[in-house]
Amino acid sequence: MRISARARAIQPSLTLAVSQRAAELKASGVDVIGLGAGEPDFDTPEHIKAAAREALVRGATKYTNVAGTPELRAAVAAELSRIHGAKLAVENILVSCGAKHSLFNLLMALCDPGDEVLIPSPCWVSYPELAAMAGAKPVILETHPDEGYRIDERKLAALVSHRTRAILYCSPSNPTGALYDAATLETLARVVRERGGPDTFIITDDIYRRLVYRGEWVSIGRVAPELAPQIIYVDGVSKTYAMTGWRIGYCAAPRELVSAMAALQGQSTTNAAAVSQAAALAALTGPEEPIEAMRREFDARRQLMVECLRAIPGVQVFEPAGAFYAFPDLRAFLRGSIRDDVALATALLDRARIAIVPGSGFLAPGFARLSYATSRKNIEEGLARMAKALTEL
Ligand SMILES: Cc1ncc(COP(=O)(O)O)c(C=O)c1O
Repeated sequence: MRISARARAIQPSLTLAVSQRAAELKASGVDVIGLGAGEPDFDTPEHIKAAAREALVRGATKYTNVAGTPELRAAVAAELSRIHGAKLAVENILVSCGAKHSLFNLLMALCDPGDEVLIPSPCWVSYPELAAMAGAKPVILETHPDEGYRIDERKLAALVSHRTRAILYCSPSNPTGALYDAATLETLARVVRERGGPDTFIITDDIYRRLVYRGEWVSIGRVAPELAPQIIYVDGVSKTYAMTGWRIGYCAAPRELVSAMAALQGQSTTNAAAVSQAAALAALTGPEEPIEAMRREFDARRQLMVECLRAIPGVQVFEPAGAFYAFPDLRAFLRGSIRDDVALATALLDRARIAIVPGSGFLAPGFARLSYATSRKNIEEGLARMAKALTEL
C-alpha cells in the first residue's frame, strides 16, 4: 500500500515504543517496573472529577465553540495574564486536545517550507517531528549537563536569523528537568531582538511550570515584556492536575495567529471535548491543595531517584529542578553488544525488568530518561535492579 511521504517521514515516538513493550511484558505476567511514564501516576483530584460529572448532568455533551467554551478561555486568559504579566484577552486563547495539539496547530499555522524552528536539545521527542510535519526545518542547539543545560549565547546567535520562525523550548525540561533562569531567558530574548526578524516567535512550552522543586520558575513574558507580540505560551492541565487523559491544552498567541489556528482546528478536530473543558475550568479555578500535595510528593521522589542514581558507579546525573524526570548519562556502560542507549534500555528491560526511555529519542544518545512519576517503592526497587544489572553488564 502506498503511504504518503508525509506520514512516512514521521519517526514513531521512542517513548511510546518502550512503554508499549513494557506494557506487553506486564500483560503477559512479567513483573516490570515502569520508569518510562510521561504522566503523573496520581488520579485526577476529586473536585475536578465531580465538576465533570455535574457538567454531564447539565448537558456538556455537545459541540462547543471551536476555540473553546467562553468560560474556559476566559479562565485561561486570566491565569496566563497573571502568570506572565501579559494582557491576554479571550481572543488570544485557543483550547485544543492537549498541549501537543496546541503545538501542532501552532506550527502548522506559523511555518512554511524554508522556515526554521530552533530547538534546544536534549528536547522532547515531538518537537522536531512537529516542526518537520509543518514543513519547517528543525535546527538543533545542543546544550550540556556540565553547563547546567544553559543556552550558550554565541552558539544561539550563530543559529538565529530571519529564517528562524520560532524558538521552541520547555522549562522545566522534558527530559532533563533543567529550569531556565532569568539570565538564560534574557540571553534568548536578546538574541531574538538582535538576530531574529519581526516574525521570529518565542514559543515557551510551560506544561511543567507548576512542577518545580529547586529555584524559581521565571516567565519570559516578564523578563522581556517588549517582545510580548512575539511570545507564544503553550500550557495545559495534563501534568499539573494529573489530567493527561482528558486531553486539554491551550495556547496564548496574537489574535491573528489564534484565528488561523482555530481555522485549522475547525477543519480537523473541531473543539476539545466539552466535558473535559468543564473539568479543566474546575482545575484552573479550584483549590490548590491537591496540586501542592502532588508537587511535594514528586519532590521527595526526585530526591530519592537522584540519590539512588548517584550511588551507582559510572552513572552521572544532572540534578533536575522540575518536571518529573531524571536524565542520567549512561555512556560509561556502552560497550560490546550494548552499542547504544536503545540496546542498553532493551537490555535493562530484558535483564532487570525495568522500563526506561533511551536518550536518543530526545537527541541525547547515551543518556536515558527515568520518570519519577511512580511510587517511592518502585523507584527504590527499580533503581536497585538497575544498579545490579549495570554492574553485571
Ligand atoms: C514537553 C511537553 N510538552 C507538551 C506535552 C503534551 O502534553 P499534553 O498531554 O497536554 O498533550 C508533553 C507531554 O508529554 C510534554 O512532555
